[in-house]
Amino acid sequence: MQKTFDVAIEALGGEISAVEPGVRTGARLAEAMPSPPGAARGKSFYIETFGCQMNVHDSEKVAGLLLGRGYRVAASPADADLMLYNTCSIREKAAQKVFSRLGEWRGEKRKIIGVLGCVAQQEGEEIFERAPWVRLVCGSASYRKLPALVDEMEAGGRRVMGLDLGVDETFETEMTLRDNPIRAYITIIEGCDYSCSYCVVPRTRGPERSRASDAILLETRRLADAGYSEIQLLGQTVNSYRDPSPRKLTFVELLRAVASVEGIRRVRFTTSHPNDFHRGIVDAIDSTPALCEHIHLPVQSGSTRVLREMRRTYTREGYLEKISWIRSARRAISVTTDVIVGFPGETEQDFEDTVTLLDQVGYDGVFSFIYSPRPNTTAALMTSAIPESEKSRRLGILQEHQREIQLERNEKLIGQTLEVLVDGRHEARAQWTGRPSSNRIVNFTSPRENLLGEYVQVRVTRAGPHSLMGEHAASV
Ligand code: SAH
Ligand code: SF4
Ligand code: F3S
Repeated sequence: MQKTFDVAIEALGGEISAVEPGVRTGARLAEAMPSPPGAARGKSFYIETFGCQMNVHDSEKVAGLLLGRGYRVAASPADADLMLYNTCSIREKAAQKVFSRLGEWRGEKRKIIGVLGCVAQQEGEEIFERAPWVRLVCGSASYRKLPALVDEMEAGGRRVMGLDLGVDETFETEMTLRDNPIRAYITIIEGCDYSCSYCVVPRTRGPERSRASDAILLETRRLADAGYSEIQLLGQTVNSYRDPSPRKLTFVELLRAVASVEGIRRVRFTTSHPNDFHRGIVDAIDSTPALCEHIHLPVQSGSTRVLREMRRTYTREGYLEKISWIRSARRAISVTTDVIVGFPGETEQDFEDTVTLLDQVGYDGVFSFIYSPRPNTTAALMTSAIPESEKSRRLGILQEHQREIQLERNEKLIGQTLEVLVDGRHEARAQWTGRPSSNRIVNFTSPRENLLGEYVQVRVTRAGPHSLMGEHAASV
């Protein structure tokens, strides 16, 4: 496996979980990447990323764009001439974190500070008011403008801003500086046309727009040539994909096409919206080994009444029917979800409905959040707020219950041999870590060295609620 770029894109933990939580929790501070020849005297940049995988991938694109303009990657924030924060606004805590980070560079005269992402789009000019030392604000729906904004900034612009939401194109760059050498992200659809009553995304990322299938396939081929064998297709509602090109591939046709690119052994996609989830997706996974046996299908609540208030466009029964398609597949497809507890007006019975749904589905992972009222959302105007202590109580009950479900499900895997793509090493514990097709975390021991990026067979010896433990059986 070829080691590609390491770049100083730092994903800060916590909010990373927003689209498909758990893929990369915690900080992964990449080493500085060797700069291309000729860039040695150029200005340097550093990007710190909060939020979901879409944000992480946007940072990779912004990094590529800056590198193409002669910037180099700074080894640390302190060394950077241009310090960029790619921000998340999904919950209040995430947005607050941005301002506290910005505060740390207050009074720093030498550095140019910029704010990108969902808080930039949401707060706009307000950011200059709250943090006057910021010089660049560019929202996630306006990255097409970034090159022009960088020009303006270099020409001495004191405050430059891109906040256009009326976009109809996707954000593509000549070059993307990928941070993860094992798994490559490709955004296939940006924005969101749903209007869930609690959610900021339609306002922070703009209207839904899909990328042409031939561009997606070309990028996949290039990634395979560069040594990547695992691709993750991204979108807030990835399965709402609609090919804007004359080929008019459906989402399922696109999945099959990406999976058939030579060298690609694994294709993942996230996040699927239940409303656009069709049986054809399950059939495609069943008949295409390269399509991973994992579906992330956020339910948010098990109560049809709350789902209506949330404007999720499906009922508990409708959701469960889709789960039954997944359960009748030949492959053992793992299912994960997102849940919000303490939505305004959520009764004890509504909450119970969510807990019983966990049992009925048998999830392999649940990312649960306390409801957080967000600016300009209709749910924020609802008057039936649940007290914080009660929200926390419900979250605790739900998490404990799910923990038991996961432990039981994982224990059933003891004795099985799984094909794991190795993506990390824990030196102190002398363990490797990686993911099987189902996307569980597998830690294992091996007498072999240099396993990063390799596919190995691991026999599961022990199980916990959040990970499996095993030993290297043989290389593939
Ligand atoms: N597009 C995805 C969700 C993206 S946001 C979907 O439709 O499923 C990721 C998760 O954050 C959501 O699934 C939801 O569980 C959570 N979330 C979004 N807004 C929230 C809010 N205001 N308070 C608490 N959690 C929220
Ligand atoms: Fe937000 Fe709903 Fe769109 Fe998901 S589908 S991004 S929760 S508005
Ligand atoms: Fe992602 Fe957070 Fe924006 S979850 S879309 S970075 S609000």
